[in-house]
Formats: sequence, structure tokens, C-alpha cells
Amino acid sequence: MEDIATPDVQEGISYWEAQPASYDGVLGGFGTGSLPRIESLGSRQFLLGLYPELSTVPSAYKPLSAPQHAKRVRALDVGAGVGRVTSDTLLYLVQDVVLLEPVGQFVQEALRRARADADPSTTTDGPSPPYTSEDRSYWPGLADRSKSVTILQGTLQEFDPLKPHRVDFLDRLGYQPPRPADDINLGFDVIWCQWCLGHLSDEDLVAFFRRAHASLKKDNPRSLIVVKENVCGDLDGKANTVFDDQDSSLTRSDLAWKELFKRAGLKLIREKVQEGLPAELFVVKMYALR
Ligand SMILES: C[S@@+](CC[C@H](N)C(=O)[O-])C[C@H]1O[C@@H](n2cnc3c(N)ncnc32)[C@H](O)[C@@H]1O
Repeated sequence: MEDIATPDVQEGISYWEAQPASYDGVLGGFGTGSLPRIESLGSRQFLLGLYPELSTVPSAYKPLSAPQHAKRVRALDVGAGVGRVTSDTLLYLVQDVVLLEPVGQFVQEALRRARADADPSTTTDGPSPPYTSEDRSYWPGLADRSKSVTILQGTLQEFDPLKPHRVDFLDRLGYQPPRPADDINLGFDVIWCQWCLGHLSDEDLVAFFRRAHASLKKDNPRSLIVVKENVCGDLDGKANTVFDDQDSSLTRSDLAWKELFKRAGLKLIREKVQEGLPAELFVVKMYALR
């Protein structure tokens, strides 16, 4: 690999602190077109292909008379921005989501959006009507308290999914377990990492992957980590990285990702290119690992 620059955590955060707390802000100006919808449908389809029990649509596999998935399925959404992946992808498929984001105005916006949906009558701050779809988004299962979102503030470098209480807890909305402390060390069925791992150096990323791997639920053979990230081209058949000094992040090539998965002891079980995104963007790939 030619490039030896590595991401600086604080510089990355400072970059994001200067961006608006909106879909457009976290998606570099692509938040108001078709991209968010296309990419979240691609994510749901990818996850359902690996985890067909999560489907709420009756099928030959899961007829109408079949009982719902017996256990609550728990996901972690890291580098979560304003909670877009949680509200638009994960809560459609799982029951409980823990959301982690370091940047103050993003995590506060995730909190505002989730609270507005969980209990619209209590929201006094935020925009006045008419609301855009982003102002009053739908977070499946929050208003009827069948699902939950727990919102944490912190970086991936400091976060251990088995010790979530070591970062700042902001709130839990929706479903509450009978004993609130019960699920702190439960681990996760799905750990979703999207468009944020470029802010970790190779060493930090391998260390995070190992912690994430250790926190996958042992009693669920389908538990998995999903990485959905930009991918640059390999260089002469070798791993390649491109450093962006504007946001102090690394874009990795397909081989660079695969080398890091291997170093972390993760097994790649499926990979897919996200289709339907604007041609001027990097290729975006989804990798499923366990
Ligand atoms: C391109 S946005 C993506 C947000 C979200 N995953 C989405 O797809 O809507 C990148 C996110 O990574 C977060 N981030 C930056 N540095 C981070 C770090 N060290 N640890 C965790 N997240 C970080 C940013 O604050 C920002 O929310």
C-alpha cells in the first residue's frame, strides 16, 4: 500500500461537527434524493437474505399461522449519525437497537427524531408544521412500545459492545424490559457498521472488529456483523487505500477490507454491491461477517 496517512479521531469529529444535523449532512448532500431510500431497501434485502426469520411478510418459509420470531432480536448501529439506518433499515426488521454516535448535534438530532415519533404530543422543540418526512420520521415500534432504541454518545475507538455503559447513555425509548439492567451485557444479533469505519486506523478497526465479534450472541448461530462502506479500486491486484484529508478518513479497496476481516478473525459469509447509487460516487459494498 502506498498511502501511510492514518485517520485522526478528533479531526474526523471536527469535520462532522461542521456539517448540518440532517440526512443531507450525513450523506454529503445526497440526503434529499433517491439515495437514502434505495440504499436502505438494499440493506433490508441484504439482511433478510441472511436472516429470513426477520421477515414480517408471510411466505412459504414463514406462513401466516407461524408464530413471530420467539426471541427479541437486538442490533447495534455504530457511527449512526442522525439515526437514519436505525429508523429506516434496522427497526423494520429487529426489535431492539442500540445506537452509537460521537458527534453532539447528530446524536441530539437522532434523539429528537426518535422522541418525536415515540411520543409526538410531548415534542415542543424542533421544527413546526408542515413537517418534512425527515422531521417526523417513522421509527417502527417506538410509539406502540413494541420496539426500543437506546441512544449512546461515544466513538468507536472507545466503545466496547459488551461494556456499553462506559460511554454516555442519553436515553432509551419505546419498549422497556422488566429489569432495565438486564440487557446491558446481552450482546447483539446484528452489528451494523455503515459509512463510518473509514475514521478508524487499521489497528483501531481490527481491535473494534474483535470486540464486536466477541459481543455477537453465542446462542444465535445467525448473529453477524455487517459492514457497508465505500470501496476504492485495488491497485495492481493488491490492497489499496485512499486518504481523504478533508474528513481525515480512509477509503479502503475490496482487498484491503478482506485483509482486515482476516486479521480480526472474521469469516466473510456474503458480499454484495449496493446497486442504484449515483455513478459519481465510490462503489458501496455490503459484507456480512461472523
Ligand atoms: C457519513 S456519516 C454516516 C452516518 C450513518 N451511518 C448513516 O449512514 O446515515 C459518518 C458518521 O461517522 C461518524 N464518526 C466519525 N468519527 C467517528 C468515530 N471515531 N467513531 C464513530 N463514529 C464516527 C460521524 O460523526 C458520522 O455520523
